[in-house]
Amino acid sequence: MSVPVLEIQGLTKHYGGVHALTDADFTLAPGEHIAIVGDNGAGKSTFVRNLTGVEQRTRGSIKFYGEDVNFASPLEARDAGIETVYQNLALADELDVPTNIFLGREKTKFDLGPFSWMDKKAMRQESEQLLEKTGVKIPDLSQSLRGMSGGQRQCVAISRAAGWGEKLIIMDEPTAALGIQETTRVENIIRGLKEQGIPLILISHNLRQVFNLVDRIVVFRQGRIAGTKIAAETDGNEIVSMITGVDQGVHENASYI
Ligand SMILES: Nc1ncnc2c1ncn2[C@@H]1O[C@H](COP(=O)(O)OP(=O)(O)O)[C@@H](O)[C@H]1O
Ligand SMILES: [Mg+2]
Repeated sequence: MSVPVLEIQGLTKHYGGVHALTDADFTLAPGEHIAIVGDNGAGKSTFVRNLTGVEQRTRGSIKFYGEDVNFASPLEARDAGIETVYQNLALADELDVPTNIFLGREKTKFDLGPFSWMDKKAMRQESEQLLEKTGVKIPDLSQSLRGMSGGQRQCVAISRAAGWGEKLIIMDEPTAALGIQETTRVENIIRGLKEQGIPLILISHNLRQVFNLVDRIVVFRQGRIAGTKIAAETDGNEIVSMITGVDQGVHENASYI
């Protein structure tokens, strides 16, 4: 049997008295696309931050392709092959698009330590190719991100993740701030990743999107994993019941649909 991409056991994060995440067990198979759903405050983003080294977990173990990992920073997670689009974007406003795409991976013409400098032309060309591949249109790459719409910025972040991600891609609410066209584009990027066999964790409030895109749905509730379902074997009503913890034959909470 092939080694799972992720085997997480007992992942726990307490902020003082706030039990943001308790005893999360989670497995991701090779090439699998999983959605994490749950109400606001359920612990979804905490799960991601503690997996990718943004924060240090209170306890629990994480195996990534069979190896115990303990990322001290998000950069370490990136170096290990995990690309993440965080809910609160980590893009540099004052820098242009290629520099953002290459952040932490700048291409140097000569690697002479302090005398190295970035190969701007190569970075620009590769950025153009990468954005083209993901269907994202940015009129002027030399523009700083400050002048861009939220949707354009988010598309740059998603393209960056999709372009670099080799072993695992995580997207925390990637389309929450996007319009219909941009959302469709991102959904197509995700389908492309599935075809390439790149595993994905997608956090989304949009159940239509979740059912259209993923293999398995993991429901978080009040800092715990409430259950896991194969997408093809469940429906919106069951997932909403799991999210709310209320067994409601016909649910009234339309915000999840
Ligand atoms: N840095 C923090 N300090 C204290 N509490 C936090 C912190 N980050 C998140 N929390 C709390 O942890 C819980 C889970 O939050 P979060 O993971 O952001 O939920 P979700 O992403 O599912 O909406 C919430 O109650 C939130 O207020
Ligand atoms: Mg969140």
